[in-house]
Amino acid sequence: GAPVEVDIGAIKPGEKLTVEWRGKPVWIVRRTPEQIEALKKNDIQLADPNSERKAYPIPDYAKNEGRSIKPEYLVVVGICSHLGCSPSDKFAAGPQPSLPDDWNGGFLCPCHGSTFDMAGRVFKNKPAPDNLEVPPHMYLTDSRLLIG
Ligand code: FES
Repeated sequence: GAPVEVDIGAIKPGEKLTVEWRGKPVWIVRRTPEQIEALKKNDIQLADPNSERKAYPIPDYAKNEGRSIKPEYLVVVGICSHLGCSPSDKFAAGPQPSLPDDWNGGFLCPCHGSTFDMAGRVFKNKPAPDNLEVPPHMYLTDSRLLIG
């Protein structure tokens, strides 16, 4: 499939834009400073904090805490690594029904309850085996992203 160019200039902190790439939904989330800070507290709860598993080829630039080129922007494929459902946004931190008590915000898969943090890493609640896929991408300018 062809690469997809996206204008990310209008995404506000705490918002998500979804675009289609190779028939898959790709999420671009602009994280708030609080959400970036909260990623640091999650490691102990994560199945694969540094994305060392090989189910997907994770680009080198995503092998960090935020799994991203820029700490502010998360770019991931919005498909659960368990059986392919689409997780829902749960960006608000703090206790919420059906989520872990120490939830710092992220995504919840409605099918079997897997939770992912704001970097798309599997948090506590499984069964998803792997972190969300990071598609190949690069920034053309501060506000133009190329996926693929
Ligand atoms: Fe997401 Fe099963 S498909 S938890």
